[in-house]
Amino acid sequence: MPTSMAIASTLFLCIYVSVFNLAHSAFVGVNYGTLANNLPPPSVVANFLKTKTYVNHVKLFDANPDVIRAFANTQISLVITVPNGLIPSFAGAQSVSVDWVKSNVVPFYPSTNITLILLGNEVMYNKDKNQIAHLVPALWKLNSALKSLKLTHIRVSTPHSLGILVASNPPSTGRFRRVYDRVIFAPLLDYHRKTKTAFIVNPYPYFGYSHSTIDFAMFKKNAGVHDARTGKTYTNMFDYLMDAVHSAAKRLGYGDVEIAVGETGWPSKGKPGQFGVSSEDARTYNTNLLKHVNSGKGTPLMPNRNFDTYIFALFNENLKPGPIAERNWGLFNADLTPVYDAGIMRTGGGGTGTRAHGESKWCVAKLGISATALQANIDYVCSTTGVDCRAIQMGGACFQPNTLQSHASYAMNAYYQSTARNDFNCDFSNSAVITTTDPSYNGCRYQAS
Ligand SMILES: *[C@@H]1O[C@H](CO)[C@@H](O)[C@H](O)[C@H]1NC(C)=O
Repeated sequence: MPTSMAIASTLFLCIYVSVFNLAHSAFVGVNYGTLANNLPPPSVVANFLKTKTYVNHVKLFDANPDVIRAFANTQISLVITVPNGLIPSFAGAQSVSVDWVKSNVVPFYPSTNITLILLGNEVMYNKDKNQIAHLVPALWKLNSALKSLKLTHIRVSTPHSLGILVASNPPSTGRFRRVYDRVIFAPLLDYHRKTKTAFIVNPYPYFGYSHSTIDFAMFKKNAGVHDARTGKTYTNMFDYLMDAVHSAAKRLGYGDVEIAVGETGWPSKGKPGQFGVSSEDARTYNTNLLKHVNSGKGTPLMPNRNFDTYIFALFNENLKPGPIAERNWGLFNADLTPVYDAGIMRTGGGGTGTRAHGESKWCVAKLGISATALQANIDYVCSTTGVDCRAIQMGGACFQPNTLQSHASYAMNAYYQSTARNDFNCDFSNSAVITTTDPSYNGCRYQAS
């Protein structure tokens, strides 16, 4: 696009609206697994997450009272899990689930913001027919138990491994295991529809990538995969897996049911020389994932849907059995140092909203980005609520130099500063970069916070 036109559209789109902070809308969820003997006490972990990170949703694989108590007054939303073994008893007398809630939830609520109870973990993929058969009745009983105790803000769901699908390739063929589809999944999806709760799945592109599909798995630029039946083209494996789940639900008449992601992630360390496993690979997957699920774009078959997503995992867990990678899924080491920069740290320090001197960061356009891409970024940013582009309009302090590179940098930084300043807020399809050097010049001041 010629520069004159570019400037004209900049002028046209730059509308000033009062500032609001996107930090509040970003969903950053993590799984707090504890198969380790070196983790800090729960109170330290809770305080760390509250004050040093943007994590606002934490999921537990149990209902450990010490951990639940530790999250009191943090505002972090907590998901707790009922052990699989209790499912058959929950499906019996209502009093069983009422008693469980009285001992595991009531003492801590509402100071701890428990928002969801998961009944079991990946029950449909285990071999226990008794648990599987009682899952749906138990969900209803636990849901009524919460209602009878007036805890109506707490939802009930159960997460699934993608082993529940017998077909997923391409996504339009997605279907659940036969017999289970009608006997279990239809009533389960009906439960989710009626209670307005999410069907939760654990998609792991990590378990399906190869040399030829690594970019597809990582949300990096790639040729995409076409699904001839729907005419949709997929550019990442996450959407591919999510749409396979959606297709399976839709096949049973439940395409409207909300879907959430209980676990997904990427390990930072594997066997020496293992392809696709490094801190950089884990960083790439998780930052791109956060950006994607918070974009509101949805998937090809579920456009504009948001998926509550919990990264696996908060910590590297040194007691997990299996290959090296199993002990290296964490965003953090046991000493609370980040394993890599996932863009979830508050850079302002202490959670007080203040910023230590010298920690300012700015977001600017990379060099060598096409005029079309730069213009698209300007158009997007300057039409975003809360971003002020007046400085790059004619007569503005940053109008000169009148180049797309300069105007895009100003606009992208203005956008970045209006958000939580996560690294994924400064990506713009890989056309932007974070810098600690103030790009301000002459009378043109780049915002910093
Ligand atoms: C509890 O978590 C929910 C979901 O994140 C949030 O909307 C709500 O504001 C939180 N409540 C409190 C009291 O922090």
